[in-house]
Amino acid sequence: MPLTHTRDLFAKALKGKYALGAFNVNNMELLQAIIEACEEEKAPVMLQISKGARDYAHPVYLKGLIDSAVKLSTIPIAVHLDHGDSFELCKQCIDEGFTSVMIDASHDPFDKNVEVCAKVVEYAHKHNCVVEGELGMLVGAQHDDGEEGGSYSKGGAYTHPDEAVQFVKQSGVDSLAVAIGNSHGAYKFKGEQHLDLERLKAIKKALLEAGMGDYPLVLHGASSVPKELAQKINKYGGDLGEETAGVSEADIEVARRVGCTKVNIDTDLRLAMTAAIREVLVTKPKEFDPRKYLAPARKAVKELVRHKLRNVLCCAGHAFD
Ligand code: G3H
Ligand code: 13P
Ligand code: ZN
Repeated sequence: MPLTHTRDLFAKALKGKYALGAFNVNNMELLQAIIEACEEEKAPVMLQISKGARDYAHPVYLKGLIDSAVKLSTIPIAVHLDHGDSFELCKQCIDEGFTSVMIDASHDPFDKNVEVCAKVVEYAHKHNCVVEGELGMLVGAQHDDGEEGGSYSKGGAYTHPDEAVQFVKQSGVDSLAVAIGNSHGAYKFKGEQHLDLERLKAIKKALLEAGMGDYPLVLHGASSVPKELAQKINKYGGDLGEETAGVSEADIEVARRVGCTKVNIDTDLRLAMTAAIREVLVTKPKEFDPRKYLAPARKAVKELVRHKLRNVLCCAGHAFD
């Protein structure tokens, strides 16, 4: 089956009220694990490639791997650039046939962010590609230190509902990554911190009331960082410390119901892969055939993805809707 357009996956996910898993791909084993789980669970999927992944594996290798996955599977697959940092990188990916790109100019002031996104949108829309923008900063859960303004502070790290409306209108982006206390990696929260789900609801409502319809929002930093994976890594010689923490599955459930159509997961895959590899290397110290530790790693990632599809994203069974 050929690639499926991100636009079509979003439309079906919004209608079916499930979230699409956007899983990061860096190598063959990760890709196989994601695709096998999605194939067996009959789930649509977004494969996302970061700049770092392109630098690590080379764009031509990644394209070859993804072409193989598409050829060998029956499920709908979209390919997305994760955290594109320039117009040039987005253009390269659009020209290579990615079905969506993210332009992340969230570190820039509002007007500059709009300007950079609008430029990518203009090129992308001429070339059958859609664009994800980001407003706010993924600095994690903290007291949002913006100025008080209405129910939500403005000018802080978190996305403001009214600014989200202005940003989408002015930039023309097709989906929006929000900052609601989310962050990347394995150390997301301290103590009782969590996502600001009320703010997420307010953003969705503001977009609806501004005439944007059921507008797709994106949740970055959606790994749950399971304690058992961190403990397994540490048991087999790792040193992740006690303070690892991720987004609870209950929070992701709410985010999905509110309208996070695309949910980005990378760290949990890395943890699953590393824990499995460490276990083999420590328990079988004479082993040196990479297949002997990469095959269990691939299986561990596959089971983790299966769990997300079934129990967190609720996209299992929706591949052929
Ligand atoms: O958002 C970050 C993703 O986890 C990709 O990470 O830039 O290390 O490939 P990376
Ligand atoms: P995690 O680090 O929580 O897996 O987030 C990944 C991500 O947002 C990729 O863009
Ligand atoms: Zn991200």
